[in-house]
Amino acid sequence: MKTKILVTGGTGYIGSHTVVELQNAGYEVIIIDNLSNSTIEVLDGIEKITNKRPIFIQMDLNDKVGLQQVFSSHADIKGIIHFAASKAVGESVYKPLLYYRNNIVTLLNLLDLMPEAGVEGIVFSSSCTVYGQPDILPVTEDAPIKPALSPYGNSKQINEEIIRDTIYAGLPFKSIILRYFNPIGAHPSAEIGELPNGVPQNLVPFITQTAMGIRQELSVFGDDYNTPDGSCIRDYIHVVDLAKAHVTAIDRLLTNKSEERLEIFNLGTGIGVSVLELLSTFEKETGVKVPYKIVERREGDIEQVWADPKHANEVLGWTAKESVGSTLLSAWNWQKRLRERGIQ
Ligand code: UD1
Repeated sequence: MKTKILVTGGTGYIGSHTVVELQNAGYEVIIIDNLSNSTIEVLDGIEKITNKRPIFIQMDLNDKVGLQQVFSSHADIKGIIHFAASKAVGESVYKPLLYYRNNIVTLLNLLDLMPEAGVEGIVFSSSCTVYGQPDILPVTEDAPIKPALSPYGNSKQINEEIIRDTIYAGLPFKSIILRYFNPIGAHPSAEIGELPNGVPQNLVPFITQTAMGIRQELSVFGDDYNTPDGSCIRDYIHVVDLAKAHVTAIDRLLTNKSEERLEIFNLGTGIGVSVLELLSTFEKETGVKVPYKIVERREGDIEQVWADPKHANEVLGWTAKESVGSTLLSAWNWQKRLRERGIQ
């Protein structure tokens, strides 16, 4: 029998790519998603790639009774990958309660129900945002956690603390916390990808939409940072590489590869790329010019951050493989597919 994994937020951007990799690896997947930031058609994309449609339950994880019913009717769920969360940094500043409810109460509900449901492990989606501006680069998992700059960032820190306290209290499950750097790109089939709601807040969807002519020009937020070309530096990682790390993490939890009950891994490439470098790589790979202007810095942006992925490479046995060029090309192919479908 195939091992059953519950993927919350499984129709979202990173969630959908992870469902594909889980199914390709032989897991049976149940998705719970409230479709607040994704569409049901994502299931068609997953099915086209894997020839298998995951079980889908449209539900809000704040509904604890509903969640309990899911665990009773699927008594063989062995692991959870918890993606479901609100993720717009700017929005979180003016809707903090929404962010704390969606990002914290949902985790409490899952952790509360896991022991009785016999779920052995949970993989949690965290972010490099917990490091703030690190004092030492590349940043390792031991770097100090800095005060969060937004309710979104704070919710990730609180989530990590809740998991840590729950594990140390002796509850009968294990956890792996994954701190993502900047996931970009789309599945090579262009059947699934990132589908931002309205004007994209993140860099790569804004670039691809500008290249497509949907947006007039890209605003580069600041060229006066203390970096070689003055623009901010990030660690951009292909979403399929990131998705594969989740399969490795859930394997590790369920096969008891480690004695540790809680482990934390950075998921990045280890390479820092500036906004202007990313833009010129996009133009080189696609042959499409992207009009841009330099504007003021964006409030809350960190100057530079990239991962030391050695812990994930050596202990988890996972390494990011795709180059930033091929990753940007996959994002562009996805944007072109959206145009063919008349979506954007
Ligand atoms: C942010 C969060 C991260 C979160 C992610 C999800 C912080 C520090 N990071 O990542 O935790 O998981 O969003 O949404 O809060 N840029 C432009 N023009 C644009 C858009 C972006 O120049 O139109 C620049 C930004 O200034 C930044 C880089 O591009 O330097 C990447 O920005 P973005 O894609 O929004 O990701 P982060 O801010 O790194």
